[in-house]
Amino acid sequence: MTLKKFLKEISPLISENPVAVISVSPRKNGTCDTVAEKIRTSGKRISVFRLADYKILPCGGCVRCRTGKCVIKDDFAKIFKDISPAERFIFISPVYFSGVPAQFKAMIDRCELFWENKIKPVKGGRGWFVLIGEREKNYIACAEKPVKAFFRTVGIKYEKGVYFKKHEIR
Ligand SMILES: Cc1cc2nc3c(=O)[nH]c(=O)nc-3n(C[C@H](O)[C@H](O)[C@H](O)COP(=O)(O)O)c2cc1C
Repeated sequence: MTLKKFLKEISPLISENPVAVISVSPRKNGTCDTVAEKIRTSGKRISVFRLADYKILPCGGCVRCRTGKCVIKDDFAKIFKDISPAERFIFISPVYFSGVPAQFKAMIDRCELFWENKIKPVKGGRGWFVLIGEREKNYIACAEKPVKAFFRTVGIKYEKGVYFKKHEIR
C-alpha cells in the first residue's frame, strides 16, 4: 500500500464530508506532519491539527471524572472542540517502540472522561489510523489496539489501519 493508493481508496468516503487530519507526532514538521499536509492538499474541506500544538497532560487515574469533569487543566477539551465538527478523521502517528508516542497515548487515556460518563464527543464519525515507521515490520497489529478502543470510545467507526515506511512516502 502506498500513500497515493490509500488516498484513492478513501477518497469516495471523505470527499463529501469535513475531514480532520490529526498528526500526533511530537516532532513538528516531521514525517507525520508532511503526510498530513499531503492529505490536506488532496481534497477539500480537510483541516490539519497537530497534537503537539496542544498541551495534554497524562491521566492520573484519580477517576474523579466520574463526577462528569476532569480535574486536569490543559487543552484536552480544546482539541475535541476543534476536531469534533469533522465527520471523517485520519490520525497519523509515528511508531514508537512498536506502539504510539506517549503524547498520543496521554490523549487516549484522558478519554476515560468520555468512557466514565458515556459521552460520545464525535457523532457518527468514521476514521482511519495511519502509522509511520522505519522498519519493514508492519506495526499495525500492535499499535492499533488502543487506537481502536479510543475510536470506539469517542464515537468514531474504525475503518482501517495502514502502515507506511517513512522512506517510501512520496
Ligand atoms: C522514541 C522513538 C521510538 C521509535 N521506535 C520505532 C520502532 O519501534 N520502529 C520503527 O520502525 N521506527 C521507530 N521509530 C522511528 C519513527 O517511527 C519514524 O522515524 C517516524 O517516521 C517519525 O515520524 P515524525 O517524523 O513525524 O516524528 C522511533 C522513533 C523514536 C523517536
